[in-house]
Amino acid sequence: TNGVITIDPGYKNTGACESGVTFLDGEQGILRYRGYSIEELAEKADFLEVAYLLIFGELPTKEQNEKFHNDIKAEAVVDEDVKKIVETFPRSAHPMGVIASLTSALTAFNPSSVNVDSEEDMYRAIVKILGKFPVLVAWTLRRKQGLPLNYGSDEIGYVENILKMMFEKPNHPYEQNKVLINALDKLLILHADHEQNCSTSTVRIVGSSHAGLFASLSAGISALWGPLHGGANQAVLEMLEAIKADGGDTKKYMAKAKDKSDPFRLMGFGHRVYKNFDPRARIIKKAADEVLGDLGVQDPILDIAKGLEKEALEDTYFVDRKLYPNVDFYSGIIYRAMGIPTDMFTVMFALGRLPGWIAQWREMRLRKEPIGRPRQIYIGATERKFVPVDER
Ligand code: SDX
Repeated sequence: TNGVITIDPGYKNTGACESGVTFLDGEQGILRYRGYSIEELAEKADFLEVAYLLIFGELPTKEQNEKFHNDIKAEAVVDEDVKKIVETFPRSAHPMGVIASLTSALTAFNPSSVNVDSEEDMYRAIVKILGKFPVLVAWTLRRKQGLPLNYGSDEIGYVENILKMMFEKPNHPYEQNKVLINALDKLLILHADHEQNCSTSTVRIVGSSHAGLFASLSAGISALWGPLHGGANQAVLEMLEAIKADGGDTKKYMAKAKDKSDPFRLMGFGHRVYKNFDPRARIIKKAADEVLGDLGVQDPILDIAKGLEKEALEDTYFVDRKLYPNVDFYSGIIYRAMGIPTDMFTVMFALGRLPGWIAQWREMRLRKEPIGRPRQIYIGATERKFVPVDER
């Protein structure tokens, strides 16, 4: 501090806003969306119902729920010109870069920034992005795999349709699997919001300049990409694969994670707020067992993950620092069992987090929060005179 400005790196102890969307208690490992526990919501609600709750603050009535689902289905169409944009990406392009660009492109196709004073206008923009984003997610995957950019069906549910769009092959109707549909619905619910995390704070600060909703979401996707944040779910699988290739030697990687001279971190462990088990990790771990059990898959990667978790929970370095498995530790194992490529995992995180970003953006605009513009303490050169280049 310089007596006037106090610096708080990473905003560890700085509150950016008041919010009524999500409550989490890091010590107790509690997470609630608008007062409802994620344990209940993951069990009893579906993803769009939870999206409605997060965005509008109440669980939808039967009519509201039906209308919301139908309005979103009606928007599950993307301008054919966007296909041309998808086809310009090399097949090797990272899916997070593709989906961030396509979301920005949607802004270009919907330039009018949302009129937040009109509930109807806001509602239209919200169902538009919730309808179109899953199509862009599916097209991102199919571009990678050289498959036709398709649509699903409006005869089936939102999550079922995401799987259909992602995986159906020409002349090979996609066999739906109830266990996978339920597991994905649960995963998306558990990722839906998490108060002022890095990507949500990004969506808020971009939106605070009154940039449009889609432009703000595109910024949030870029922030989520980082391996310290949503990108961790991809980094976890890469780490587990490396351990498996290294003969399953978890002790060696535990030692690396504790070695200060080694930049390696145990991905999927630790959290800025949870100093206890991440409640989402508990539910996802159980879902991973169910999915692999149902598919009859014996995944050595899951065994390595469980071994690593057991060791970490007994290791003083981790226990002293309260480093527990977080939401990213087990989710990739389920995505992998679903046939989703590793570099698409963070795109699935973005798909889940979309309603939370929208809810927080909407709250920030409705509360007329000022433009975000932090201060600094200057530590650079004092004043000096320009020297022409011939004299330097
Ligand atoms: C998500 O904020 C959110 O809510 C995010 C999220 C959401 O839903 O939006 O929950 C989603 O991003 C989950 C986190 C996914 N990231 C990872 O799994 C990457 C690995 N985790 C770490 O990089 C780290 O734990 C963070 C980034 C999650 C949190 O970092 P902090 O709070 O800044 O903690 P820190 O880096 O200051 O670490 C504190 C200590 C340090 O040791 P000391 O300097 O005290 O000796 O713990 C150590 C760190 O070295 N440490 C780790 C570690 N995480 C922290 N050591 C080894 N492995 C790790 N994973």
